[in-house]
Amino acid sequence: MATAIVTGATGITGSAIVEHLCKDSQYKQIFTLSRSQPSSSMSDKIKHAHMDLQSSAEDMAKDLSHVSGSVIFFCAYLARDDEGEAAKVNGAMLQNFLDALKITGELKQVKRIVLTCGLKQYGVHLGQPKQPMHETDAILEGGNWPPNFYYSQQRVLMDNAKANGYTWTVTFPQDVLGFAKGNFMNECTALGLYCSVAKLAHPDSELPFPGSKANYMAFNCWTSANLHAKFCLWAAQAPNAANQMFNVVNGDTESWQNLWPRMAARFGCKVPKEMFPGGDRSKYDGFEASGPSDLHDPAPVAVQATSEEVGIGMGMPDLKKPSTLYQQVDTTKWAKDPKVMKAWETLRDKYGLDQQAFDKATWGFLTFVLGREYSCVTSMSKARKMGWNGYEDTWDSFEETFDRLEKAKILPPVSQLKKETPLSS
Ligand SMILES: NC(=O)c1ccc[n+]([C@@H]2O[C@H](COP(=O)([O-])OP(=O)(O)OC[C@H]3O[C@@H](n4cnc5c(N)ncnc54)[C@H](OP(=O)(O)O)[C@@H]3O)[C@@H](O)[C@H]2O)c1
Repeated sequence: MATAIVTGATGITGSAIVEHLCKDSQYKQIFTLSRSQPSSSMSDKIKHAHMDLQSSAEDMAKDLSHVSGSVIFFCAYLARDDEGEAAKVNGAMLQNFLDALKITGELKQVKRIVLTCGLKQYGVHLGQPKQPMHETDAILEGGNWPPNFYYSQQRVLMDNAKANGYTWTVTFPQDVLGFAKGNFMNECTALGLYCSVAKLAHPDSELPFPGSKANYMAFNCWTSANLHAKFCLWAAQAPNAANQMFNVVNGDTESWQNLWPRMAARFGCKVPKEMFPGGDRSKYDGFEASGPSDLHDPAPVAVQATSEEVGIGMGMPDLKKPSTLYQQVDTTKWAKDPKVMKAWETLRDKYGLDQQAFDKATWGFLTFVLGREYSCVTSMSKARKMGWNGYEDTWDSFEETFDRLEKAKILPPVSQLKKETPLSS
C-alpha cells in the first residue's frame, strides 16, 4: 500500500492528481498541501494541511509533523514575471520542502518524487523550438538564455536524490486543459469566458480568433489534466520511469483551424466570413490588436539549426530570427472594454456566475498560446516505448472542462447561452 503527498493540491495539475489518487486503491492515505483550502474533500483518504512553501524549512517542518508519504507529487508553482526570480523562488520552494521533510525524518520514507514541469523546458515561451520536441533536446543554458525555473527545480530534485535514497520522475505537460480557480495559467477558463461573452458582446455573435493567422494554421498538442494525473500515477510506480523525464501530451495533434469552428458552435457563436481581415479588426470597434512583438533572439530552434554536432545539427544557419507574438484582438484590453464588461455582467447576473473568474482570467497566458506564430508539437515516443499507452482526444478534453466550468458557475450553461442575442441587436 502506498501513501502520497501532493503539493499544489488546489492547482490545475495538483487537484487532478488528488482526484485520481482518491480512486486508486493502491493509495491508502493522501496528504494534500497548499496555502488555501481545497473547495471540497472528495474522500476520507485525504488529509489537508496548510503549508507555505515560502516559509523556512523549520517552520514548514512544524506544519508537516504528521505528514508522510511514499510518493510525493510536487505540483506547487509560483508565477513571477522575472525569469531569474521565478528560478530562485520555485527552486527554493522545492529545496526548503525537502529540507523540512529531512527535519521531520520523513524524507527517508519517500520512494519517488514526481515533479511537474512543462514545455518551457524547450523554451516554447522564448520562441520556436525544434520540433517535435524530444526529451533528449539540448537545454537552453549559458550565453544569453534567461534562467529557467524548471532547470533549478530539476537540479534540486536530482542533487537531493542520491543522498536521500529516493528516485524521481519529471513531467513536461503542454498547455493544460483542466479545472482550477484563480490559478496562473488556465486556457479553458479564459477561452470559455471569451466565447461566452462574445455571444452577447460581438455584433452578430461573431467569434474572431483573437490570436494570429500563423497560430490558427499551426499544429499544437495539449495535455488534459486528467491524462497528466494518470501519467503521474503510472510514473510513480513504473520501475523504468525512475530518474527519467517525460513529455506528457494527449496523443493527438490538433490545430485551431480544426478546433475554432467547434468552439464557435459550442457557444452558439458564428465564425466570421473573413477571420483575418488584417490590421486590428476595426469592425470590432475598440478591440485593439497587440504586436507583432519579438520574442527571444535567437529562437530556441537556432541551437539545433546552427549546431555542427553529428546527429543534432540541422544545417539551417539562417533559422536564427526571433519568433513573434501577435493577437488580432488583444484579449487583455478586450476584457476591459465597456461592451464586453456589460455583456459579462449580464451573464453573471442572469446565471449567478463567479465574478472572480472574470477578474482572475489569465488573458496574458491566452495572448501567448493563441498569438505565438509557430507550431508546438511534442513527441510521446519515449513514454510509449516504456509502456505508457494513455490517450485523450483534445476536443473531448476541452468539452469536459467546459462542462465542469459550467457546473462551478464560472461559465454560463451553453444550452441557455445559445438562446441569447447580442446586446446591441
Ligand atoms: N497550467 C498550465 O497550463 C501548465 C502547462 C504546462 C506546465 N505547467 C506547469 O505545471 C506546474 C504546476 O502548475 P499549475 O498550472 O498546476 O499551477 P496552479 O494551477 O497555478 O497551482 C499552483 C499551486 O501551487 C500552490 N502554491 C503556490 N504557492 C505556494 C506556496 N507558497 N506554498 C504552498 N503552495 C503554494 C497553489 O496553492 P495556494 O495558492 O493555495 O498555496 C496551487 O495549489 C508548473 O511548473 C507549471 O509551469 C502548467
